[in-house]
Amino acid sequence: MKKLITSAILIMSLTTTVYAVDPKTLAQSKNCLACHAIDSKLVGPTYKDIAAKYKNDPLAEDRLSKKVILGGGGVWGTMPMPPNTQVTPAESKILVKWILSIK
Ligand code: HEC
Repeated sequence: MKKLITSAILIMSLTTTVYAVDPKTLAQSKNCLACHAIDSKLVGPTYKDIAAKYKNDPLAEDRLSKKVILGGGGVWGTMPMPPNTQVTPAESKILVKWILSIK
């Protein structure tokens, strides 16, 4: 019986891993990758450059999660980012966490 419960828990944790949101797929489905690439400059800065710029900024995750939804400019050049209202605050956090972790 104990063994059965253990394997049930194991299967549950495995399936959660499989179905957890993959940030890159999320970025793709939210259209972020139309303007951003990991390491080539498109309309917006590369995700590598963003991660490098904020690597010592503990407040960046919070600030950037809001900026992704509201849009804004003036940091990387003259071109502003339009608002991304299709993104929820939770999704924005996932995306920004992922971007900031890129090396
Ligand atoms: C229409 C093009 C476009 C789309 C779509 C877009 N971005 Fe941007 N993004 C930009 C531009 C341009 C900038 C530079 C803004 C600036 O200079 O402040 C930028 C900046 C950023 C920054 C850095 C902001 C800062 O203040 O340093 C992050 C993080 C970011 N984008 C994430 C995202 C995410 C996540 C998505 C998808 C939900 C997304 N972007 C969709 C064009 C876009």
